[in-house]
Order: sequence, then C-alpha cells, then structure tokens
Amino acid sequence: MRRKVSVIGAGNVGASVAQYLAQRNLCDIVLVDIPEKEGMPAGKALDLMQAGPVDNYDCTITGTFDFAAIKGSDIVVVTSGLARKPGMSREDLLKANADIIRSVSENIVKHAPNSMVIMVANPLDLMTYHAWKVTGFPTNRVFGQAGILDSIRFRTFVAMELGVSVSDTQAMVLGGHGDTMVPVPAYTTVAGIPITELLPEAKIQAICDRTRNGGGEIVKLLKTGSAYYAPALATVEMVDSVLADRKRVFPCSAYLTGQFGLKDVYIGVPVVLGANGVERIFELKLKPADLELLQKSGSTYKEHLKELGY
Ligand code: 2OP
Repeated sequence: MRRKVSVIGAGNVGASVAQYLAQRNLCDIVLVDIPEKEGMPAGKALDLMQAGPVDNYDCTITGTFDFAAIKGSDIVVVTSGLARKPGMSREDLLKANADIIRSVSENIVKHAPNSMVIMVANPLDLMTYHAWKVTGFPTNRVFGQAGILDSIRFRTFVAMELGVSVSDTQAMVLGGHGDTMVPVPAYTTVAGIPITELLPEAKIQAICDRTRNGGGEIVKLLKTGSAYYAPALATVEMVDSVLADRKRVFPCSAYLTGQFGLKDVYIGVPVVLGANGVERIFELKLKPADLELLQKSGSTYKEHLKELGY
C-alpha cells in the first residue's frame, strides 16, 4: 500500500504541494479544504490525476471538504489560513490564522492521530507551536517548513550575484520565518567556498536583507497573495525526507529545549529529518553575533506566543 499524505488547504500552496508530490510519485494524496469551497479540492485533485498520464505518475489524488478522508495519513501538511497582502507582516495574520489552525489541529487529532504534522501556515513558527499544543503530539512529529525556503532564496540570490549555478550553492538561514530570520553567511558556500571569501561584506549584507524580505518582495509583486512555488517545493523536500527516511539536514522550525539557549519555543534550526520526523537538532557553534540574532528571534516569538495565551 502506498504511503498517504494529506494536504489541508487546496489554495495555491496546497495545490502546488500536491502537484510536486504527485510528480515524485511518492504517496497517495488527499487535498482538503473547507465546506464553503466544496468542489474546489475535488476539481483540483481530478485535474492533477489527469496530468498523470503525461507526467508518468500513478498515485491517487483525491479532493474533499470532509476531514474524515485524512484517516491513516502518514503526514498532514497544513497550508490553510490567510496569506499576506502587501504591507502586512506574517505576524499580522496571527489571530485569524490561530483560529483556523486550532480547528485543523483538532481534526488531525480526531482523524489522523498517528500522523506527522508539517506546518506551512503563517506566522509559521507560532502556528507550529500552536498546532503542537492543540494536537498534544510529541515534538518530533510536529515541525514547520520555512528554513528550507529561506535558504533556497538565499542560494538563489548568491547564485544571481556571482553568476554561478544555484546547484553549486549551499546556504543556511536560521531563526523565525519573519523579519528576525538569521541568514548565516559563515555557513553559506559556493562549491564549498564560503561566500565571505567571494563577496564583499556590504554585498553579503544586501543579500541577507533581500533574503529576510524574500517573501515580502513576492507579496509586493503579486499584490493578491504570497509565494507558492518555492514554499511548496520546500515542503515537498521535507515530506520526501520523512517518507523515504532520507535523514536530510535542513533548517526547519523545531521545538527547542535549551539548544542555542532557547527553551519552549519553535524556531528555525538545523535538523535531521527521517522516518521519526525531527530526529536530531544540530547545535552549531555560531559566531556570537549570529547566536545573539538567533536568541533575539526566539525571544520575539516567545513574546508573540503570549498573545495566543501560551
Ligand atoms: C513566504 O515567505 C508565504 O511565508 C511564505 O513566501
């Protein structure tokens, strides 16, 4: 029997996650959205199924507004919630998305109590904490996508600046998925060469700023929503590593119990993702300035958690 991944929210991000997952032919896929959108997830699922003969995938893709369909899921990807409009920060979505994520999390507990939860909704690190609290699942089974997205944005900008293939770039972005995110140039390389040896400091800082504002730049261009191709593909990398037990090392939003001097908060740190979800957290020795930025990012999110009553 195939593995099963449910994607909650059949909007741009959710449907793109389903599409990229199907193209990897890794698992059966269930797309779920709210009753007001009855027909929409089913329509997108059928459309994706009909692309299978050309794209050569044969997994089953179904769409529904009935949460009972997520039963038996190995992973539930949560993309539901409002997206930013130009001028908004991710934190501006806090209250509205918290209610949505509470209801989604309760449904996950009811219908897929053994699943893993990958959070994609914003504000990402806060919604991941919220889902962990509402589900009561162990922390290794609840984690958030963001660091991969921020790192591939960083890689793209480095490659564009140097005129080299993105394939030869590696980048590390830690911290929260928001204004306090922490691009780490010391761990960002081109074919193993630290970018600090390839680019002047001012250029590196400009690339770090553009990375921090990477999502906002796209919101501003799109005007009616936020990015979805790269966020969806970043999510699929995580699903793939868990389903195939690949033990890839990615920055993801994970629960900290004292690592980097932070406790009881979800924030982006390098983790090993395998069949048991977050199997390890790599506690890198960061430069004091980067560690300070990471701790500041963590403290900011701890403050925001209070607004959710935690
Ligand atoms: C982004 O950074 C939507 O948060 C997502 O594009």
